[in-house]
This record gives sequence, C-alpha cells and structure tokens, in this order.
Amino acid sequence: MHSFRYHQGQLFAENVPLQSLAEKHGTPLYVYSKATITGHFTRLDASLARLNHLICYAVKANSNIAVLSTIAKLGGGFDIVSAGELYRVIKAGGDPAKCTFAGVGKTRDEIEYALKQGIYCFNAESEAELHYINQVAGELGMKAPVAVRVNPNVDAKTHAKITTGKSENKFGIDFDQILDVYARAAANCPNLVIKGLQMHIGSQLTNVDPFLEAVQKVIPLVTEVKKKHGIEFFSIGGGIGINYKQSLDSGDAAWWQENAEVHPLTVQAYAEAVVPHLEPLGLRILCEPGRFMVGNAGVMLTRVLYEKRGAAKVFKIVDAGMNDLIRPTLYEGWHQIVPLKQPADATVEKVDVVGPICESGDFLAQNREIPLVKEGEYLAVLSAGAYGFTMASNYNTRPMPAEILVDGDKATVVRERQTLEDVLKGEHLA
Ligand code: LLP
Repeated sequence: MHSFRYHQGQLFAENVPLQSLAEKHGTPLYVYSKATITGHFTRLDASLARLNHLICYAVKANSNIAVLSTIAKLGGGFDIVSAGELYRVIKAGGDPAKCTFAGVGKTRDEIEYALKQGIYCFNAESEAELHYINQVAGELGMKAPVAVRVNPNVDAKTHAKITTGKSENKFGIDFDQILDVYARAAANCPNLVIKGLQMHIGSQLTNVDPFLEAVQKVIPLVTEVKKKHGIEFFSIGGGIGINYKQSLDSGDAAWWQENAEVHPLTVQAYAEAVVPHLEPLGLRILCEPGRFMVGNAGVMLTRVLYEKRGAAKVFKIVDAGMNDLIRPTLYEGWHQIVPLKQPADATVEKVDVVGPICESGDFLAQNREIPLVKEGEYLAVLSAGAYGFTMASNYNTRPMPAEILVDGDKATVVRERQTLEDVLKGEHLA
C-alpha cells in the first residue's frame, strides 16, 4: 500500500503534487508519505493482534526524526544500532523503554548511554559483548537487560549483502552454542538480566518459507531458554520484503493478486505463517521491520540535466547520484522510475539513468525502458523510503538532499538541504 498516484496528469504524494515540491525545494529531494507509514504500521500491528507484541521499527531504514515521531505516536518501539539512533529516537519523542539495541560492535560509550536512558534490551551478538555489557553495567552500579541473538543458519535467499542468518555471516551466536552461552552468562555475569532471545535472518525476503523455517528451528531453543532462564520476549527480527514494482494507480492490492505466486509475501501471509507457531510460547513477541514500514512510503525526485545519445546507449543524466541513493549500484537494487508528468502515451525508450558522480557505478537504472522525458523534466525514483537517505553521503562534496514529509495537503521540510558550509563544517586547514 502506498499513497503515490497520478491525478490530473501529475504524480501526487497524498494530496500534494510532487512537481510543486521539486520546483519549490529543488532536487534531489526525498518525499515521504505519512499516511503510507501509518498504514503499514497499522496493518502489521493488526496482523499480529493475537500476540502480545511490540513492533520495534528498525531505525536504520529511515531515521528522520519526523518519521520516528510518526511511529512513536502509533505506539511503536525501535530497534537501534547506535547511540546516535537512540539519540534520534529520544529527540523524536520515542520511549527508550521500547528500544532494543542490536549490532555486533557496541562501544563502551554506547552501552553507557543506552543503560542510562533505560532501554528495553541489548541484543548481544557475542559472548565477549555479554561480558563487556556486564562489566560496564557493574561499573555504573546498574543491571543491564540482555538478549542473545541466535544465528539459526537459515538461508534467507535474498541478496548476499543483506543475508544475515547463515553461519558464515558475522551476526549472532551459532545455534549450537546458545544454551551454553546463556548458562555461562547466568552463572558468571551478575549485572545482566536475561530478558529474551532474538534472531534476524536477512532483509528484503520475498518468500515466507525462510521466516517459517527459522521460527520453527528456533522455537525449541526459545522454549528451553524460557524454562531455564525465565525470559519474557522472543524477537523474530525484521526482513519483510516489499514490492519494488507496484502499480501507481491502485496501490499494491491489484499487483498482489496478479503476482501472488511470484511474490507471495504479504504481511498477512507472513503473520498467518508465523503467528500460530509463536502464540503457544506465551512470550512477548517483538518484530523489527524497517523496509516494510517506510520503503514504499518514500520517493526520490530528480531532474533530467542532459541527454546523451552514445554509440551503445542513451544516457539520461540526472541530478541525483549514487551518493543520494546507493541501492542500485550496491545491491543491484531495482527501483521503478517514472516521470512526474503522467506520460501522454505508452511510448518508452531504453535508457541508462545515471548521476553526476565520477564513477561508472553511478546509476539509478540501466537498460531500463522508461517513458520519454526531456531535459529539465523531473523523474521520481519510487520505493526509496528505506535505506535511501540513511545511506546517502557527501561523496564528491555533494550536499545531502532535503527531506519532506507529506501529510494530506501539508508538506513539511523535515530536513533541510545541506549547504556547502554544512558539508565543510568541522574541517580545518593544518
Ligand atoms: N533487525 C536487524 C537486526 C537488522 O539488522 C535489520 C536490517 C532489520 C531488523 C531491519 O530489516 P528490514 O525489515 O528493513 O529488512 N541497506 C540494505 C538493507 C540492510 C538491512 C540491514 N539490517 C538495503 O538497502 O537493502
């Protein structure tokens, strides 16, 4: 589901024509739809209703404080991976007591900050980390809530760079070691309170089978850990994939019906598969969706600067580069690209949409048939709400784009475009 539609010949986000935003605020520009985020949260929340559950939105997907505040107001918690993300959550009005802290390399400063803010739980990824959290908590005279992340060695069948649940990935502790690790932590770490068990097998999963396989594999372990250590929660991680090829007219409902076999992972299918296995555990169930919540709630707008007709290809050179959206080149990520002005006919042309960065990997699409667009016209790169702005950089000394949140008729600048002064801030001549 999303709220981007053509209406009267123009692409809208909710009730706001995107062309007006591009003209007013310049490009590249990220635009998010609040209604879409709310819709996704509500749908997932409803599909987990039978469980005592908490949705801990994975902040890394989109960490703008206006997005976080939207989720906090819906009652969401947050999965954070740094002190910086926790700081953002707090600035956005989120509740630290609904925050889980993931990641393999938490530093002392981060552990201290999170302890002092009263987070819900640290999800530890190694025995060394458990010991360190125990030590830091002891020095502060505090008790640290912890869970251990299990690596279930299940193949998520997604892109290699976003698979996390195989033994060769750096994440979590091997399935076979988990019970011993809990036992040693209980015996030797007096400043830890063992609260749960966590797993996360990967991102952009478009099939329910790996989720089901992982849940079924880990449930006996959860039951055992519950019996021995009295845990209160099991986190099943994030990873729900989104549809990167959705229809602009009718949201994704029609697409799902037509393509159910190739892309069966609706949130309903996900919940129907896992909830019956989770319910008998009698535990609080956490899930950590990032992309599902915000991916299809955002677009990146860009302007066509030049067209170059070469011997081998037609290049549309646009003003957004891999520094603004790195997914196409880093993960072979496929993002639909459409003109802001609804095309008059179905004529398409095969082009490469490339950015201004001095690298051949700087493209948004290759060999892609898109409607005819002229220099000066605008394009929208769809499904850019997750891992778009958060992975942007200042490479080539390009200021980071602005971000806008649309809510009905209202469009708010929720992050200003960087100036060159912003980009150079903190640099000094030696
Ligand atoms: N929980 C943990 C422990 C994670 O590591 C992640 C994502 C999530 C939850 C949220 O996963 P999601 O629901 O968004 O799939 N930059 C990549 C994705 C990296 C995902 C990293 N971890 C991309 O653009 O595809």
